[in-house]
Amino acid sequence: MMKKTNIKPWVGYLIFGLTVFLVFCLIFESSIQLPSLVAWLGRWHPLILHFPIVLLVVAIFLGLTTNKIPKLLLVVATISALLTAISGFMLAVDASEKGDLLIWHQRLGSAVAFLAVLWYVLVTLNLARTILIKVLQVVLGITIFFAGHYGGMVTHGEDFLALPTLGNKSNIIPENPLIYAHIVQPILDDKCISCHNGNKKKGELLLTNFKEIKKGGENGEIIDETDYKNSTILKLVHLPLEDENHMPPEGKPQLSISEIQILERWIALGANDTLQLSHLNSDETLVGLVRKLQQPTVKKDWSKLPEIDDEVLKNLNSNYVNITRFANQSNALNVIVFTAPTYNDSIFIELDPIAKNIVQLDLSALPLGEQAISFIAKCVNLEWLEVDKTSFTDENLEKLKGLTKLEVIKAYDTEITDKSLAVFENFKNLKKMYVAQTNITINALDAFKKEHQNISVDAGINPSIETFFVVKEKDTVAVKKEE
Ligand code: HEC
Repeated sequence: MMKKTNIKPWVGYLIFGLTVFLVFCLIFESSIQLPSLVAWLGRWHPLILHFPIVLLVVAIFLGLTTNKIPKLLLVVATISALLTAISGFMLAVDASEKGDLLIWHQRLGSAVAFLAVLWYVLVTLNLARTILIKVLQVVLGITIFFAGHYGGMVTHGEDFLALPTLGNKSNIIPENPLIYAHIVQPILDDKCISCHNGNKKKGELLLTNFKEIKKGGENGEIIDETDYKNSTILKLVHLPLEDENHMPPEGKPQLSISEIQILERWIALGANDTLQLSHLNSDETLVGLVRKLQQPTVKKDWSKLPEIDDEVLKNLNSNYVNITRFANQSNALNVIVFTAPTYNDSIFIELDPIAKNIVQLDLSALPLGEQAISFIAKCVNLEWLEVDKTSFTDENLEKLKGLTKLEVIKAYDTEITDKSLAVFENFKNLKKMYVAQTNITINALDAFKKEHQNISVDAGINPSIETFFVVKEKDTVAVKKEE
């Protein structure tokens, strides 16, 4: 039985009034234009929605277990459920287009409020038949659960309550990924679709699938196929952060530089959903960006690297030498040396003190001399080495035999021959090698591949496939022919 509490009559009128107003919202919501103050009231929805959930769940629990529910609890729960539902309609005024999730969330949220009112009425009129009330409590509990679940999906995305999947999505990029599906869409999923999905469709733009991306938003197509630099999507991500049109808006997780580059190269290459990594020439920027994503991110031995001071790195960094830590506190370094007009091998004497810290080293396109080669040999913790487009030879590679931690070697467009294959065998941790445009013969390479199936060998585009491509851009980028 309900505990007797004196509730003033106006409380009943309030509940009645709010109920009528909620019915009004449900029926006329789509046909009326609410003023902006109302939209502001809607902002309270995410805050107050916690009250009816907690209060009603407590009331249901007491009802099912003890049958003694303080009437005041029921009154406050009912009023808060009504206010929450009404504020929800006000919040939705801001949504440019309602998706199914939002519509269901609104219906279920209203149902919670109506069921609470019904419960209150039954109790007030002393019509509370035990069995009827029990059924109502159970139905109400289930409705609260689904209303909350749909609400969660509206704000957090559809798999909000899904169990976390194993591993990180971005880690499982296949060996020969589709650029759109495996690389581009996951970036959009990560940084954009929270505002550009079926339920929150900001700027009338959906970024959830290829068709919608092609379709564009309220201002038309966002990708310009004739002049990729003119694409709205690229213009908006390149705007300064303070600009109100910058995407993603300030305060939201931003695209990294390489994510922007990936987006840009994908659009430059025709923004289609059939392009695959193997369709690209190995000197296309996108290839390097994708390869970096494919590396395993978990590193084991970096904690044992020697300490290195920020000051040291600052002094060594220049326009021609780029040194970065892999993470804030990490002593593992990524070093890229660019061709400077004044380039000479002596740069490597300066880098000597950090040799043991270098885990990734990019010396591509440099005129590598003896000094450079003996420097590389000192980088005993090196896992990733790029010497593409250099005069790198078999003798050079022979000198690097001691680099047992090497996992990736990029040596395309160099002078190495079949002799180097024997040296590659020595690198016990080697996972990937890029040897396109070298003097290695196809027969020797085939034999090598057969014997070392754990090493992935990239020898460039298979000539028989190459005829299917046309050169679309100046920089000899191979792109699949339009179907
Ligand atoms: C926090 C929410 C939010 C996020 C995250 C977000 N956007 Fe937007 N986006 C908006 C809003 C709001 C508009 C509409 C701006 C306007 O109409 O003035 C918009 C508009 C756009 C438009 C213009 C559509 C048109 O036709 O006018 C593009 C393109 C766009 N966003 C791309 C992106 C990309 C790419 C990302 C991810 C890198 C992203 N957005 C992330 C909120 C967001």
